[in-house]
Amino acid sequence: MTDLWRGVLYLHLLSMAFFVGGQLVFGLAVVPVLRDEGDRERMRAVARRFGYGSLIALGLLILTGWALASHFQLWGSSTLQLKLTLLAALIVVGLIHLRFGKAHALQGLILLLTLAIVWLGLRLATGG
Ligand code: HEM
Repeated sequence: MTDLWRGVLYLHLLSMAFFVGGQLVFGLAVVPVLRDEGDRERMRAVARRFGYGSLIALGLLILTGWALASHFQLWGSSTLQLKLTLLAALIVVGLIHLRFGKAHALQGLILLLTLAIVWLGLRLATGG
């Protein structure tokens, strides 16, 4: 693998780290603390910034993932197709979540879908 493609994979993984890590920090630390303090305004402000960051990370994941799939000729891979199906589901659930912000089950579902997508990414990169 050349350094150029290693760089693309690096960006893919950095975005993945933000996307997964952000959800964990937000769900395990920010939401419980600000909810206990009853600070709705702040929670909304943090959620907005977190949302923008996640959207940028997701955009980078799609761009770099697209480039990697083309470069490594992986479009025919059933693992990639399953990964993209789960990604489509993630986007749909994410949009529903924007409409119903307080539905915690949706946040849990988004995290589960993300973790499954990460697993499929690993399977893809390790030839599974
Ligand atoms: C939420 C979105 C995504 C997440 C969390 C994610 C996560 C990952 C992870 C963890 C890896 C493993 C990298 C490694 O171990 O070296 C990976 C690899 C990969 N991903 Fe994604 N990914 C996402 C979206 C996408 C999209 C949209 C595409 C294609 C359009 C894509 C295409 C690929 C490809 C082709 C590889 C394998 C690269 C290689 O063979 O080295 N990913 N992804």
